[in-house]
Amino acid sequence: MPSPINRQWVLTARPDGPIGDHNFRWTQGAIPSISEGQMLLRNLWLSFDPTQWFLMAYYSEVDSESNGIPIGGVMRGLTVSQVVESRLEGFHPGDLVHGYSGWEEYSASDGRGYFPTTRVPPGVPPNLALGTLGVTGMAAYFGVVDVARPKAGETFVVSAAAGGVGSIAGQMAKILGLKVIGIAGGRQKCDWLVGEAGFDGAIDHRSEDVGARLTALCPDGIDIYFDNVGGPTLDLARERLRRNGRIVVCGGTSRYAETVQPPGPVNYLALCMVNGRMEGLLARDYADRFPEAVAALSGWLASGRLRSKEDVVVGLEHAPSTLARLYSGANFGKQLLKIADPVDLPAA
Ligand SMILES: NC(=O)c1ccc[n+]([C@@H]2O[C@H](COP(=O)([O-])OP(=O)(O)OC[C@H]3O[C@@H](n4cnc5c(N)ncnc54)[C@H](OP(=O)(O)O)[C@@H]3O)[C@@H](O)[C@H]2O)c1
Repeated sequence: MPSPINRQWVLTARPDGPIGDHNFRWTQGAIPSISEGQMLLRNLWLSFDPTQWFLMAYYSEVDSESNGIPIGGVMRGLTVSQVVESRLEGFHPGDLVHGYSGWEEYSASDGRGYFPTTRVPPGVPPNLALGTLGVTGMAAYFGVVDVARPKAGETFVVSAAAGGVGSIAGQMAKILGLKVIGIAGGRQKCDWLVGEAGFDGAIDHRSEDVGARLTALCPDGIDIYFDNVGGPTLDLARERLRRNGRIVVCGGTSRYAETVQPPGPVNYLALCMVNGRMEGLLARDYADRFPEAVAALSGWLASGRLRSKEDVVVGLEHAPSTLARLYSGANFGKQLLKIADPVDLPAA
């Protein structure tokens, strides 16, 4: 049975060093009552993204785009939830929905937010809806297909390669006929990249000289660098970019916690010398094309050519320590947290 109280994590301190339980208070509030145009959600699964650092670090009452959290506010993120009660057109009790909600058992939602709430397609499990078939997979898909525009035979390098986005981007490039090298933290992740995800090579940035290994594994240079971390790894990849090479700026996890951004990029003229291109993407801006990506990724999953690597923690009480895993590299695959299973609800 669903809990009659609403356990939740509220933000109490902005990040100042490694984050964890000390930034939040584990508390309980009332189950929200909804008004016209809202629905009551029971949150079932949480997704974690390194950019949640910014939600914790900044808040502006006037800048709704910043989406920061006020001190005392419930932490937010992407969720899969079950509609318990609805006064919002198009949503019904029992529906599974994917949207932007809170680190709490129950949330009131008007269906809007950083990502508009949508129904999870029938048959898609919540973990996939948040991961490979969610924003994570969308960033990988459009980063590869639209921004990188890969050609078979090219050399593709991806950082945070055993993470949520990186593992999909690298496997996609392999499916599309490229030579794929992954950069990841630790032997276990590197072994998985080569042994199970089918990469042609892997570099352990914790124990190896990344520059030397890139030179050895990509002797003719890099055609595409899919960047998830920024910082020195981006500089090393850019120095090795081939003629007409592309850099996909998907994220920069190594830089998110820096309060003062270091000057850079240090060697951007390397782009000029090779007619190179460096281009960012924001997955949510491709929302009208998500069905195309979901169809392609679902097909590869069904055929066994694509593996959805997930790292699942169970229990809402672990949400802060689960988010912290992204910055220490403890996560192996897409970081998710399961709160509860859906329940059968009586028809309205
Ligand atoms: N553009 C978009 O629309 C979009 C959408 C979703 C996500 N993203 C971005 O994509 C990137 C990957 O996201 P994700 O959710 O899949 O996370 P993830 O890659 O699964 O997890 C983060 C990983 O980053 C690596 N890392 C952490 N701190 C680092 C540091 N200081 N230096 C180097 N590597 C570090 C760790 O991997 P190792 O152990 O292998 O080092 C860690 O496992 C993030 O930058 C995220 O913000 C962008």
